[in-house]
Parts: sequence; structure tokens; C-alpha cells
Amino acid sequence: MTGTLRYGPWALVTGASDGIGRALSQQLAAQGLNVVLVARRRDALATLATELSTLHGVQTSVLAVDLGDAVGVDVVEQQTRTLDIGLVVLAAGFGTTGTVLETSSADEMDLLAVNVAAVMRLAHTFSSRLADRGTGALVLFGSIVGWQGVPGQANYAASKAYVQSLAEGLQGELRPFGVDVLAVAPGPVGSGFGARAGLDLGSATSPDTVARSTLAALGRRRTVVPGLQGKFLTAALWSLPRRWRSAILSRVISGMRRRSSASRPAAE
Ligand SMILES: NC(=O)c1ccc[n+]([C@@H]2O[C@H](COP(=O)([O-])OP(=O)(O)OC[C@H]3O[C@@H](n4cnc5c(N)ncnc54)[C@H](OP(=O)(O)O)[C@@H]3O)[C@@H](O)[C@H]2O)c1
Repeated sequence: MTGTLRYGPWALVTGASDGIGRALSQQLAAQGLNVVLVARRRDALATLATELSTLHGVQTSVLAVDLGDAVGVDVVEQQTRTLDIGLVVLAAGFGTTGTVLETSSADEMDLLAVNVAAVMRLAHTFSSRLADRGTGALVLFGSIVGWQGVPGQANYAASKAYVQSLAEGLQGELRPFGVDVLAVAPGPVGSGFGARAGLDLGSATSPDTVARSTLAALGRRRTVVPGLQGKFLTAALWSLPRRWRSAILSRVISGMRRRSSASRPAAE
């Protein structure tokens, strides 16, 4: 069996209601995989599920849960126990923008719950299930901001550094069990991400392009940087001292920042 079908019959995609996760769900279904769709927005997931089964004749399962809540992660673990899932894509995540003096610690803790804690728990659970199968793949979403600290997105960049490091560690741990682990580190992508993070991302890479690069790299690469912007920024910054990279990316983020998001919150 070739292509992503070798990871079937089921894939699980978190963040499937929008952006990169939705594009990946569409491309996986087009290749014949059944898909478990996970995010909070039930209506968006239900619409996508109907689209995938109608267009591609695949089976779908919708899990509308908040991954920022440990109970939501419990539901995903329990409801997928009997499915033969061979591919796990953990794309759910969001960014915050602003300095530590402007952002609220509650929002930053929510970010850690979704971008770090839920990713760690699901990666842990599915690593074990995939290793038991003796074949499979795990895809984790970092970001090019995760290569260094970024003033103005300090906590988001730190969360993505965690994901990149986790993926690199799991690659070595799971390879002997036949499980491929891929870290995806996009640059700016035109999805729902910008609005939630308070950024105007301009001429960003499309979610479809990110999804295509991700699937093409699966089983072949350890880290993929999809899209021209991400590749250009990575190549341009790679050889610079870390603190220069931080300063340059901070200016890039500052230039993308929406004016309304640049305010200091009331004391908590
Ligand atoms: N877009 C970029 O510029 C960019 C760049 C680098 C890395 N990334 C990373 O790529 C991944 C996908 O981002 P995207 O661009 O596709 O963003 P997006 O369009 O905003 O999609 C994010 C997805 O995550 C889900 N999600 C967010 N919070 C959740 C929660 N508490 N519980 C469950 N699901 C939740 C959202 O669904 P609901 O709202 O329905 O819950 C949505 O499906 C993220 O990890 C992001 O950090 C994005």
C-alpha cells in the first residue's frame, strides 16, 4: 500500500474545524482514509463530516470537545479506543500576541493547556496505541517562531519550541516500533489563526499548501517547513545569532499586529 493509505484505515485530526486541520482532513479523506474530526465547533465539524462522506465515501466521527479542558482530552481518548487509528494529526492550537505586560495570564494558561498539555497527553496516548499496532504516524504542529524566543509572542513561541522538541524526541523513541513522527513548522498561514491571535498575516501560505507539504513529508522527513514564506524566513534567519533572530521576528510580528490588540489588560 502506498501514500497515506498505508497509515489507515482511520486518521484522527485535531483542529479539524478550520485552517490547516480542515485542509488535512479533506486531503486525507480524498485519499480514502476515514477521519475522526476533533475541535470545539460542532456545526463546522458536522458540515465537514457530511462533505467528506458525500465526496469521498469515507466514514467520519465528530468529537466536539474543548482540548483546553482535561475532560475534553479524556473524551477523545475514550471515544477512539475501538477505532483502528494509524495516523494522528495534532493541529489544534492558537496564538496570543502582546508583551507579558499586555496579555492576561489566564489567556496564556489556556494557550498552554491547548498547545502543550493536550498535545502531550494525546501524543502520549496515541504513541502507545500506534506502537502496539507496529505501524503508524504522528504529526505535531510547531512553528517557525519556535526556533527562538520572540518578544511579543513569548508564550506562543515557547509553546511551539516545546512541540518541536517533543517531536524530535519521539522520533527516536518510536522509530523502532514502526511509527513515523513528523514536526511541521509553518510560517504565516492564511487561516483562522490570524484573527484569533490579533494578527494580519498578509499574503500567507494557504492551508491546502501546508496540508500537501505535510502529507508529502510523512514517513520521509523529520521536520518540514511548508510554504515559501516559512522557508524564506527560516533560511534567512538560520545562520544569525539567536538574539538577532528574536529581534527580527519580534519586528515581523509587530508589523502584523492589529492596532486593536495592542492594549494592556485590566489587572486580574
Ligand atoms: N496559521 C499560522 O500562521 C500558523 C503558523 C505556524 C503554526 N501554526 C499552527 O498550526 C496549527 C493549526 O493552526 P491553523 O492555522 O489551522 O489555525 P486555525 O485556522 O485557527 O485552526 C485552529 C484549529 O484549532 C482548534 N482549536 C483551537 N482551540 C481549541 C480548543 N480549545 N479545543 C479544541 N480545538 C481547538 C480550532 O477549532 P475550534 O475553534 O472549533 O475549537 C481550529 O479547528 C496550530 O497549532 C497553529 O499554532 C499556524
